[in-house]
Amino acid sequence: MQKPCKELYSKYFYDEEGSLLFEQICELDEYYPTRTELSIMQQHVQEIATLLGPDCLLIEYGSGSSLKTRMLLDALQTPAGYVPIDISKELLLQSVASLASDYRGLEILPICADYTSTFRIPAYTRPSARRVGYYPGSTIGNFDPEPAKLFLQQIARTCRGGGLLIGVDLKKDFNILHRAYNDQQGVTAQFNKHLLVRINQELGANFQINQFGHYAFYNPGKGRVEMHLVSLKHQVVRVGNVEIPFKLGESIWTESSYKYTLEEFAQLAAKAGFTVERVWTDSRNFFSVQYLTVQ
Ligand code: AVJ
Repeated sequence: MQKPCKELYSKYFYDEEGSLLFEQICELDEYYPTRTELSIMQQHVQEIATLLGPDCLLIEYGSGSSLKTRMLLDALQTPAGYVPIDISKELLLQSVASLASDYRGLEILPICADYTSTFRIPAYTRPSARRVGYYPGSTIGNFDPEPAKLFLQQIARTCRGGGLLIGVDLKKDFNILHRAYNDQQGVTAQFNKHLLVRINQELGANFQINQFGHYAFYNPGKGRVEMHLVSLKHQVVRVGNVEIPFKLGESIWTESSYKYTLEEFAQLAAKAGFTVERVWTDSRNFFSVQYLTVQ
């Protein structure tokens, strides 16, 4: 028996190939979030560093190649350490090696884990340092409201007495959202279908990739972009030795990307025990970088 609505976790997009596809998405004209967040960070990094304060322990949830982090590390005053958390061991080791050579004297404490699981911060030299979480990219948008609250609560427990610097994508004109997830070149479609490629490769399945269509739309009632893979015919797919029937038009839900108003996000943050200390946005109010604190 399968669940009535077929669904795959979006965290499975990000193997090496999928991460490369995502990086390609970030370069697309239509995909505004990455570029916008970067420009906000560039413009305000000094103020951000001042607010985070000297001697903080920076904990990054899903550090990847740690590229955005460098800007922050450059601006922070005598950081007590950097804790990159990432599920990809290769990516983590590569970025730690490169950071270690560029930031001599910075204590780096990598954790290879799914950052939503429970993990322990290893012992570090300055245990009294204030902990500041870093969660850029509006990846919080992938969580439904309740899991989002639980995840933020978990960060709040880890960073008690400190804060969280987070990127949050904002509600905006539906057409702009639509274009961001339906690019001309079809990179997002390829990214979406990559999940099926992975299942074929890693679970010995026989998905016919071209018999599924990329379908992404903004659901205004729920305030989220939904991404689906829609079966283009009646078909039966074999995954290992399980047969999975698809009706024509039946979909696999592969991702949600929630968009917030500043008020909505402040409410969510409050439910998790955070106070919004400062919000930076771009001139079009497309994206926000926010500093939250937790007692
Ligand atoms: C990395 C989760 C923030 O939701 O916009 C990009 C992933 N999916 N295009 C997003 C994504 C389709 C992205 N996040």
